[in-house]
Amino acid sequence: MLKPGQIIKEFVSKKGDHIVIRFIDNNDAPNMRRMKNNIIAELDPESKKVTLKDQEKLVQEMLQGLLNKKEVLFCAITGSEIIGRCLLTPFSGPSSHMGEISLSIIKEFREEGIGTALIKEACGVAKDKLNLRIIDLCTDETNIIALDLYRKLGFQKYGVIPKGHLVKNKYVDKIFMYKEL
Ligand SMILES: CC(C)(COP(=O)(O)OP(=O)(O)OC[C@H]1O[C@@H](n2cnc3c(N)ncnc32)[C@H](O)[C@@H]1OP(=O)(O)O)[C@@H](O)C(=O)NCCC(=O)NCCS
Repeated sequence: MLKPGQIIKEFVSKKGDHIVIRFIDNNDAPNMRRMKNNIIAELDPESKKVTLKDQEKLVQEMLQGLLNKKEVLFCAITGSEIIGRCLLTPFSGPSSHMGEISLSIIKEFREEGIGTALIKEACGVAKDKLNLRIIDLCTDETNIIALDLYRKLGFQKYGVIPKGHLVKNKYVDKIFMYKEL
């Protein structure tokens, strides 16, 4: 069973921050909202900010998703702040042995190994607790850091949608990668 708030890993980051990786918990809405709005302000400033009400609803859906094993949200926390997140979403039907991962870390905490730790833990839970065999993800051709990180963790490129991603008002290639667990 996957329990809300369950701690998956604790470690000290490359810059000396104490990091806890755990599943989403009932009281996470304000912190999760702060984190998301931080990422929106950086990467997609024209997009609408998340309200507390919307985030509270989303957290409840995520908690349900965790209990049903339909969506597993991992939070990276330092002090009382959520500074990173990784969402693991198992597919259904004939692809129910597969799942998808998405990842973000707030700018101030990048290059500390937190993204790496989140992906590794998500892959571990995917394999051991959800019986998934393949993880799928996507990014875009301009995201050199993510491409490098995923390649380093064993993901292989399997497809491209030319101009499938909008970055800073420009269409760029969307890159798909997978890894067998
Ligand atoms: C992509 C992202 C999640 C990486 O998180 P992170 O915590 O900084 O990653 P890590 O510190 O674990 O870095 C792991 C690897 O990423 C790559 N990397 C990190 N910083 C890099 C840089 N400045 N230049 C090139 N590669 C870099 C390296 O391969 C690095 O491995 P190394 O430390 O052994 O050299 C983070 O940059 C982010 O949230 N970006 C914005 C949102 C995003 O792009 N999400 C993913 C795509 S959808």
